[in-house]
Amino acid sequence: MKQDLIITGPMYPPTLAELEQTYNAHRLWTAPDKEALLASMADKITAVASSNSGGINGATMAKLPKLKTIAHFGVGYDTVDVDAARARKITVTNTPDVLTEEVADLALALVLAAIRKVPQGDKYVRDGKWLKGAMPLTESVQGKTCGIVGMGRIGRAIAKRAEAFNLKIAYQGPNKKNDVSWPYFKDPVELAKEADILIVACPGGEATRGLVSRAVLEALGPKGTIVNIARGTVIDEPAMLEALQSGKLGAAGLDVFVDEPRVPEGFLALDNVVVQPHVGSATHQTRKAMGQLVIDNLAAHFAGKPLVTPI
Ligand code: 8YV
Repeated sequence: MKQDLIITGPMYPPTLAELEQTYNAHRLWTAPDKEALLASMADKITAVASSNSGGINGATMAKLPKLKTIAHFGVGYDTVDVDAARARKITVTNTPDVLTEEVADLALALVLAAIRKVPQGDKYVRDGKWLKGAMPLTESVQGKTCGIVGMGRIGRAIAKRAEAFNLKIAYQGPNKKNDVSWPYFKDPVELAKEADILIVACPGGEATRGLVSRAVLEALGPKGTIVNIARGTVIDEPAMLEALQSGKLGAAGLDVFVDEPRVPEGFLALDNVVVQPHVGSATHQTRKAMGQLVIDNLAAHFAGKPLVTPI
């Protein structure tokens, strides 16, 4: 007999299809009556699959008293109430490592796109403006200082790439890392003063909400570029928009926003902003690998084996 599984939000469709084939799976996010579904499953559900756009809070966990494992699709798990899970002895798994290089690729793509004005160049050609004259010159990336907020797996992969682009590296985080020699700043304002480019690569959630404050953005300054591939919540978004509009901040390359998929109109009116629809990990190969980790963690859970990637 198939085991019951609740899936709280959408994820890579082939992963979803495989879960629905393996388990007696119930989609919570499309259920016409969520409370009725939770109540009918209360004594059966020991595992849940969750995702970025469909997380799980403490109240939902409380309605599933036998819940032991939450297999989350994504390396960031800010939509899962981890404290509530811990209090209930529920283990949360995520999808680390398999997306590190992919997300770091997009970070550098955004640096180059924002500073070398890649989308603007594309539009310049398409609009026929090249026929009338050359596009205005841009700034150079070469030799600039790249400050990285969060020197975890993704931060390190970004640093490796940034060095190949002849950027100097400095970083910020809660703790200095003993195995890297780049300058460390505990205070993000101090990092921003040093940096020409600031890349946000730390986890989201309450601990980092507003970490990149108005003061950080103003320290980065009129010639500075901010890139965010982490979570929209890490940056004070209204302050960033104002700084970009007033020229207190030079440019931005943004893959993530506070209220995705809604992007504040103001950003879209600006020529010094490049936006992406949260696609850091969005390739066939990486989403498949992320999905496989969700599948493997759930298989381990139901086989009574150690989970593959507990947080
Ligand atoms: C997507 C991500 O949110 O892994 C993460 O933390 O932000 C992304 O990979 C995602 O999981 C797709 O919905």
